[in-house]
Amino acid sequence: METWSVAGQPTTTSNMPGLLLGDELPNFEVETTAGTVKLHEYFGDSWGILFSHPRDYTPVCTTELGRVARLSGEFSKRDVKLIALSVDSLEDHRNWSKDILAYNCEETEGCELPYPIIADNKRELAVALGMLDPVEKDKNGIPVTARCVFIIGPDKTLKLSLLYPNTTGRSFDEILRVVDSLQLTAHKQVATPTEWMPGGCVMVPPNMPEEEAAALFPIGVFSKEMPSGRKYLRYTPDPQDRKGCEPPPAEPELPTTL
Ligand code: BEZ
Repeated sequence: METWSVAGQPTTTSNMPGLLLGDELPNFEVETTAGTVKLHEYFGDSWGILFSHPRDYTPVCTTELGRVARLSGEFSKRDVKLIALSVDSLEDHRNWSKDILAYNCEETEGCELPYPIIADNKRELAVALGMLDPVEKDKNGIPVTARCVFIIGPDKTLKLSLLYPNTTGRSFDEILRVVDSLQLTAHKQVATPTEWMPGGCVMVPPNMPEEEAAALFPIGVFSKEMPSGRKYLRYTPDPQDRKGCEPPPAEPELPTTL
């Protein structure tokens, strides 16, 4: 396995500590385009998203950070604070931000990127959080950051993570969708099915007894007959929407032509 010297330490992808579901985000002090911040204080009592990209001044990253800028109002509505990260310098982040805004906004005069970018030049967070991509390297042959997303709850623990390679840009609409699911399921005893969107049917967790489900979801619980005869596919309306719900078909329709 390839080993790189990162901040004087021999590093491989297998000895990056990483962050797993339920782990507390370490309270790193970081240099950002908005000054020095400590991550816990920056996120405060809000939800937080820490997302990394490989390099400044690259095309896919520019589209991604531009999309996040455009969606920042949607994240604020959900009380989510955003912070980006790469191993580039603060100076690069500041200058590249103007390109991101120019790509993204009709009017850039007086505009600022609505979230800070961390300069992790020493790769301290990248190694501690398992963000390095062994495929994409800087001019010294040291890996740069992959496209990670960490969604942190108000209790500072990891609720969800995504890890994409440098060649595949992320969908931040999907990240908004999963924030909606995480926030709903943090407060209500439900789970959300594939492709769920707010207002769609939610699912009753498999370990919940029928009587408890009936009491908890008075609008109704609909179960779908399964060949096994087991009643585990149980739907109920989105408890934050209160409309009735039609269970979706078991399988989405596939295109008929190959
Ligand atoms: C990009 O953002 O376009 C990119 C960055 C690193 C490798 C490949 C693509």
